[in-house]
Amino acid sequence: MTAETVKATDTATRSNKDRVLIFDTTLRDGEQSPGASMTLDEKIQVAELLDAMGVDIIEAGFPIASEGDFEAVNEIAKRLKRSTVCGLARAAFGDIDRAAEALKPAEKRRIHTFIGTSPLHRQFQLQLDQEQVYERVVATVTRARNYTDDVEWSAMDATRTEHDYLCRVVEAAIRAGATTINVPDTVGYATPEEYFALIRMLIERVPDSDKVVFSTHCHDDLGMAVANSLAGVRAGARQIECTINGLGERAGNAALEEVVMAIRTRSDVLPYYTEVETPTLMQASKLVAAVSSFPVQYNKAIVGKNAFAHESGIHQDGVLKNAETYEIMRPEDVGVRSTSLVLGKHSGRHAFRDKLKAMGYELGENAFEDAFRRLKDLADRKKHVYDEDIEALVEDEIATSSERAKVIALTVIAGTGSPQKAIITMDVDGVHVTKEATGSGSVDATFNAIREIMPHDAKLALYQVHAVTEGTDAQAEVSVRLEEDGKIAVGRGADVDTVVASARAFVSALNKMSQRRRKSAPGEATLRAG
Ligand code: KIV
Ligand code: ZN
Repeated sequence: MTAETVKATDTATRSNKDRVLIFDTTLRDGEQSPGASMTLDEKIQVAELLDAMGVDIIEAGFPIASEGDFEAVNEIAKRLKRSTVCGLARAAFGDIDRAAEALKPAEKRRIHTFIGTSPLHRQFQLQLDQEQVYERVVATVTRARNYTDDVEWSAMDATRTEHDYLCRVVEAAIRAGATTINVPDTVGYATPEEYFALIRMLIERVPDSDKVVFSTHCHDDLGMAVANSLAGVRAGARQIECTINGLGERAGNAALEEVVMAIRTRSDVLPYYTEVETPTLMQASKLVAAVSSFPVQYNKAIVGKNAFAHESGIHQDGVLKNAETYEIMRPEDVGVRSTSLVLGKHSGRHAFRDKLKAMGYELGENAFEDAFRRLKDLADRKKHVYDEDIEALVEDEIATSSERAKVIALTVIAGTGSPQKAIITMDVDGVHVTKEATGSGSVDATFNAIREIMPHDAKLALYQVHAVTEGTDAQAEVSVRLEEDGKIAVGRGADVDTVVASARAFVSALNKMSQRRRKSAPGEATLRAG
């Protein structure tokens, strides 16, 4: 059966009971990955894309955790058009009240409250006995229901909780008004058979289980998060909690793109459906990889660079004769465009504008002119300009166009003789400043020269380079993560010259760090041109 016939059959036989709700927690559990923190603007960008993509519920943050989390949930709540916005809260009144406050502007809001139910969590983390946890569940779910009639309750570490006790607390949560019951495999310990049996047991034993939606929340410590989530759905769960690229605590959560495509592709054995518009998956993956600076592994299912690449002769031969010989999904169904070599130095503004439109970009006039100038420059320096090149260039332009400090020119003296030297000219608030510095290697020298212009105490937590396309003239895409006083800022830059891309990424991260400093201490001149 072809993908087309599968889709047609699906549409004809769909019923609401087979619909699986997709609950994305990239901005909450995903952001809890060490080092994956995102700025407010980045979170809004991700949330708006998930909303447009048809994700049912977006967990936008943990409002009591920090001012930044509160603001993110609140801003996202103002903006979303289709999705329900969700805020996380521990089993404490203060948490629930804060989540409710952050969610106020949302058209559709959900409070998600949780407590550890396993013996390990009760005894060591909470120092509460079974009855005390039970009472907290009743009190906090009731509190949340006073704010909204969409309340999710999670039994943290459910997969290691005594079954009888789990049934009791789930029953209590339902009676107190929870409308979604989430069954987390918090430590990624369950196997698919066990997880299936657990969800089935709860649905069969708990009174009124048919009045609520059961939800899966599986971590990937043993690489079984997606398999467990799907087993949960087969057992009767109708919500999957997941993240783009599988981002999340430790080994991450079930990957959204994998559960969605598994359900779509294997509807013969998984007769369910989601409302996610799958051609947006690749764009979402790229956006999350960029803002979190967690690159996607090349062989990652669905969105990896190699997921639709056929290298061996025998595979290429088969795919050319009939794509279905080696492809179980159509690349375009997940948003993979076939690479085309499109623009060159003779291309005009019109062709560039059309190309950007086809790629889903809309730039303001100034950003467009800057991007066009960079395209011409790139076409002069690089033999072939591919879609990926344009994407890297435009993403870089979007990320840096409103920044206060910019790289204008850079010269490095590199090679075997040391130390290496860098001379950099930057525009800081409209003033051109030139400084030079030495270092061990050209990147180090460049960063030292930038430090002369933008003094700071930030530590370099990550420096990552990746080639956008093949060949020695490929553009380099550099990610830089800085840390200062517990705050994190991520910058990206692209250029055919790796050192220039590094400088752009470093300056972008410093701009963001200085923006954060200004926010936490308004009035302080933090961007110093030295
Ligand atoms: O993994 C987990 O248990 C969680 C809960 C807060 C749902 O993330
Ligand atoms: Zn989790």
